[in-house]
Amino acid sequence: MNIAQIRAAKAEGEPIAVLTAYEAGMARAAFAAGVDAFLVGDSLGMVVQGQRDTLAVTVAEMAYHSAMVRRGVPSALVIADMPFLSETSIERALASAGTLMQQGGADMVKLEGGAEKAPTIAALTAAGVPVCGHVGLLPQRVRKLGGYRIQGRGDDEARRILDDARALVEAGVDMLVVECVPRELGQALAEAVDVPVIGIGAGADTDGQVLVMHDMLGLNEKPPRFVRDFMQEAGSLPGAFAAYVDAVKRRTFPTQSESF
Ligand code: KIV
Repeated sequence: MNIAQIRAAKAEGEPIAVLTAYEAGMARAAFAAGVDAFLVGDSLGMVVQGQRDTLAVTVAEMAYHSAMVRRGVPSALVIADMPFLSETSIERALASAGTLMQQGGADMVKLEGGAEKAPTIAALTAAGVPVCGHVGLLPQRVRKLGGYRIQGRGDDEARRILDDARALVEAGVDMLVVECVPRELGQALAEAVDVPVIGIGAGADTDGQVLVMHDMLGLNEKPPRFVRDFMQEAGSLPGAFAAYVDAVKRRTFPTQSESF
C-alpha cells in the first residue's frame, strides 16, 4: 500500500494492519502475511537495544533500522519515527526527516505531539515529506509523565486530544497514530478527521491497528493490557503475523478487555 491507498482504505472502511519492524527478515515475513504498512518505531530502543525507554535512540540509528526494513519490503509503506529531540526546530526536523528518507528509505516520518507541532509538520509537508502524527500517550515524554499512563480519560483531556488531532490534520499529516486512550476517544478521533487513525491501545473502532512486533510475538514479559500474544495462538511466526492481520481486518482485535 502507498499513502493514497492507505487513505482510500479508510474511505472504504477497510481496517489497516500496521506492525512495527526493525530489520529485513521479520519485515519480509510479516509482509508475506499481509501486513499493510511498517512502522520503524523508536520502540527499537527498548525491544532491540534493551534501553529502559525510547529516549536514547538517535536519527542515525533510526535510519540504519529503516534501511534494513526498506530492503526487506521494497514495495511496502515504511514509516520511520523521528526520535526524541530530533525535530526541535524546523531546520533540525527537515535534516532529520531527510536522513530518514534518503538514507533510511522511509516513505513517511512519524512525530509525537499535539498542536504545538503544527508549524513543524507544515514545514515538512511543504518540503514534500509525508508525516504521520502521534497523539494520546507520547512515549518520548515518559520521563516527564512519570510512566506509561492512559490519556484522555476526562472530558477536557479528550477534547484537547481531539483538538490536537484536528490541528495536525490541518497542518498536513497524512496519517495519525493514537496511543493508549479510551475506546470511545479512539472512535471519536477516527470520525473527526479524514486521514487514517491507527490505534494502539485505543480500541477496535479506529481505522487500523499497530502493535510492537516483539509484544505480539509474546516477547514482552509484562505486556500492557492492549497487547495480544498472537504467537501463543498460532505457534509459528508466519501464523502469528497472519492471525494478527486477520484479527485486525475482521475487527476481532482488540476486544473490550484489550481496550480501555
Ligand atoms: O515506537 C513505536 O513503536 C511506536 C508505536 C508504539 C506506535 O510509536
